[in-house]
Amino acid sequence: LQEVPFFSNLAYVELEKVASLLITRKYERGINVFLEGGDGDEFYVIYSGNVKIYKESVSREIILAIFGEGDFFGEMAVLENETTRSASAMTLEETTLYVLKRQDFLWLMNQTPQIPIKIMNTAMQRLRTANELIKDLTFRDAKTRIAKGLYRLVEKHGVQKQDNILIDLKLTHQQIADLTGTVRETVTKVMQELQTMGILKIEKKRITITDHQQYLLLFDEE
Ligand code: CMP
Repeated sequence: LQEVPFFSNLAYVELEKVASLLITRKYERGINVFLEGGDGDEFYVIYSGNVKIYKESVSREIILAIFGEGDFFGEMAVLENETTRSASAMTLEETTLYVLKRQDFLWLMNQTPQIPIKIMNTAMQRLRTANELIKDLTFRDAKTRIAKGLYRLVEKHGVQKQDNILIDLKLTHQQIADLTGTVRETVTKVMQELQTMGILKIEKKRITITDHQQYLLLFDEE
């Protein structure tokens, strides 16, 4: 437990207590952990796997974030009184979650000042990212949105391989469209173009950025 960054500041006694409160839950791929609008009485930390946070309209969805190992989610409905889940959460592969019931999570928040600070810092980072997404959706063209949308994934899911960066997620073109406010056909076209230019390559649904310099030029501030 100590190796999970979220719990790393806990003293041994607290760690023992948390370990006794945590529920471990395993999900298959493509399962909803919860739906937008549902009651929020649990908080989650990802032990392994990936979870997408998304909002749906009639026939489309927008992916707000893809979280991986060590990330937490579900804190909003738990911390805000009388509110419901602000978005839906679905596993993108087999995923194991640590689950804390609301009361236990609140106890932990009171017990350890580092925890609320961590949550606040992360919430601010996520707001920054969301602001960036709003800007991109408002001002950028589809190709730039796709390039930037993929690059947003690098921070959490990027693996450096010599001069290349592998985005360690299996993504369909539809999911990339959902991440970037575009449609699947456009993603297919742009990905083809970027591959032909030698900027990235796709193998088994995994994207590798092969020319970092050129890639960054795709969304250089104009
Ligand atoms: P909650 O509202 O309980 O359920 C959905 C969760 O998704 C939310 O808590 C946050 O943990 C997370 N979430 C909501 N909006 C965003 C966002 N824009 N970026 C990253 N995570 C988010």
